[in-house]
Amino acid sequence: MENLQNIQTRVSQSIADAPDLTALDQVRVAALGKKGEVSLLMRTLGAMTPDERKQFGPKLNALKTELNQAVVLRREELEAEVLNARLVSETLDVTLPPRPRPKGSIHPVSQVFAETAAIFADMGFVVATGPDIETDFYNFTALNFPPKHPARDMHDTFFFGPNADGERKLLRTHTSPVQIRTLQSAVEQARKSGSELEPIRIIAPGRTYRFDSDQTHTPMFHQVEGLVVDRTTHMGHLKGCLQDFISAFFEREVAARFRPHHFPFTEPSAEMDIGYQRKGNEILIGQGDQWMEILGCGMVHPEVLRLSGVDPDVYQGFAFGVGIDRLAMLKYGIPDLREFFACDQRWLQHYGFSAVQQPNLATGLSS
Ligand code: DAH
Repeated sequence: MENLQNIQTRVSQSIADAPDLTALDQVRVAALGKKGEVSLLMRTLGAMTPDERKQFGPKLNALKTELNQAVVLRREELEAEVLNARLVSETLDVTLPPRPRPKGSIHPVSQVFAETAAIFADMGFVVATGPDIETDFYNFTALNFPPKHPARDMHDTFFFGPNADGERKLLRTHTSPVQIRTLQSAVEQARKSGSELEPIRIIAPGRTYRFDSDQTHTPMFHQVEGLVVDRTTHMGHLKGCLQDFISAFFEREVAARFRPHHFPFTEPSAEMDIGYQRKGNEILIGQGDQWMEILGCGMVHPEVLRLSGVDPDVYQGFAFGVGIDRLAMLKYGIPDLREFFACDQRWLQHYGFSAVQQPNLATGLSS
């Protein structure tokens, strides 16, 4: 009996004193493990007289249970200590500033494409695309450039070598071929569904190429084409639409005038000029005594409609083409076109735009 009392006191003390989980386990094994002190005592029960066993057995069992419970409680304590120590040592200071991360920016050309799309989308236009590598048919013939016409040379075209059929593909010199592709698929659509031609309202942003390189020309540049075809659209719509576009784009009232011009694919054709003035080295777009040519436009030539299978006696509309690089230079005060393609990180950081803010008419095109 005395012995049991001693064991109880001693082992309980060791359990309470165990500094960590490993030590606790050693204490447990020494007392309650297979060859532990208490387990060995249990084995002596068999050799006892029934009376002794009756008296000794329950006490031994009680001791075992008590010690087991003490181990469980101490283990919970120690585990809580371990967890608390981790919580203290692994705290995160969420108020620390983040490490600087390299971040990209949106190129002014992409920005102006997006701004242009936002403005025309608001007027009900959708974006159409076509390939950069075109055929002579789409780039010239279907746009009513006569064969051997000097206008073809004026475009300073990059030609590919002839293919097996003797055909020479080319890098499109303008986005106008997308007009033809759009007309053709609208005609095809109407034919398939057996209904009349759906009204067309598209813009086609994209890359264009000419054999030309100086301070204001790069061999690759960017245009946005526009095309509207239905039964009733007239020159007044063209003027209103482009006037609205240019004012929305420059985010102020911009004076505009339309000057007669010639393009093979429009009749009548015009160039649109916008008012500006010079202040020192600065060009202020909007009002002023100077005019700057900004885009080409006109009523789609009946021959262009006919060549794409659209009846020019029923359908009509307008088209325009605008150089995006120059729009970007004018709006954002960028002096040198060649910098657009130099991939200079400092230039991109300076003239680039946030990727997070998409241009839209509700909250602003640019910020
Ligand atoms: N394709 C012409 C060019 O690159 C620009 C142009 C003028 C497009 C008049 C048009 C247009 O759609 O109607 O020089």
